[in-house]
Amino acid sequence: MTFPVAVRWSEDGAAVDLLDQTRLPEAEVRLRIETADAMAEAIRTLRVRGAPAIGIAAAMGVAVESARHVALPDAEFRARVRSAIERLAATRPTAVNLAWALERMRRRMDRAVGQTPQEVSWALFDEANAILVEDRGMCRRIGEWGLQVLPDGDVSVLTHCNAGALATGGIGTALAPVYLAHALGRRVRVYVGETRPLLQGSRITAWELGRAGIPVTVVADVVAATLMKQRRVDLVITGADRIAANGDVANKIGTYGLAVLARHHGIPFYVAAPVSTIDPDTETGDRIPIEERDGDEVRRGFGRLTAPENVPVYAPAFDVTPADLIDGIVTDQGGLSPPYGAAIRKALGLVPAPARAGGRSAT
Ligand code: MRU
Repeated sequence: MTFPVAVRWSEDGAAVDLLDQTRLPEAEVRLRIETADAMAEAIRTLRVRGAPAIGIAAAMGVAVESARHVALPDAEFRARVRSAIERLAATRPTAVNLAWALERMRRRMDRAVGQTPQEVSWALFDEANAILVEDRGMCRRIGEWGLQVLPDGDVSVLTHCNAGALATGGIGTALAPVYLAHALGRRVRVYVGETRPLLQGSRITAWELGRAGIPVTVVADVVAATLMKQRRVDLVITGADRIAANGDVANKIGTYGLAVLARHHGIPFYVAAPVSTIDPDTETGDRIPIEERDGDEVRRGFGRLTAPENVPVYAPAFDVTPADLIDGIVTDQGGLSPPYGAAIRKALGLVPAPARAGGRSAT
């Protein structure tokens, strides 16, 4: 199987090499990103997107920015790096992985007491690289745990948006079990909603699954209810941008509707995400900041006017699925089952875990 790479170091190691996801599926264009501001633009405009991928890309952006200032006196060097971190953190508010990765970079610099700017910059490259490499491993483990929620035999999965390789540093979150099942020779088919208004489902998920040779069918988002009524899907798996301490999940707009439909039709609804997507400081979903996008993404998304020119548009990028509609959360550390508050505290080590005889159950 071949996986497209959303974010990696450039060949000379001095820049970040991004796949411009706004150009998919028409063109495969790679960008060389050399500054934090260029990275901030790429994140804001969704050239790189998906919660884990934007955390990784932002961390790498901090590293390459730091290399530009190593000739400055120490205090000025650190001020420049801190300001880059702040500008990157302000690009997208909902995905907690962005703040999480940038906080790791800030702490890495603060730990490097008494080191020269050059040494600190090298340490920042190491930290960003660790975030990238760790994400690859987390995706793989999500896939392994996620295999347990796939029913035996031929399986048909409905997903939303893109929570695949292109949203991460590895094989994805929601799509990781699909990739592993396919590699094991299981017959797995994916339905994906096009994911209005920016079409991450039809442009990105369908493209990457097609490249991997996995059967994929695109449906307009409004077809989901019919698919479920016709029993064409066995389960729904989506990713997450932020999971609150009580298990409420913010994910791409439209996810909540799918969860309501799935419950109505008695179809299991799962969320797959690394533990770094859980934000224990956000108590419930209604505390999660929801990004609002420019109305023109709806009025004239891909060029043509599709609504009256000045009509008001409400364009939240994410919605919140209440924990009680979620049958299981598959993380890199195992599956979490309701009640999620307790399961999340245990997964994050916030209360002493009881002695375990075996692994955690994935459902
Ligand atoms: O606006 P995006 O494309 O960055 O949103 C990404 C999502 O919401 C994905 O569906 C996802 O589940 C989180 S990334 C694995």
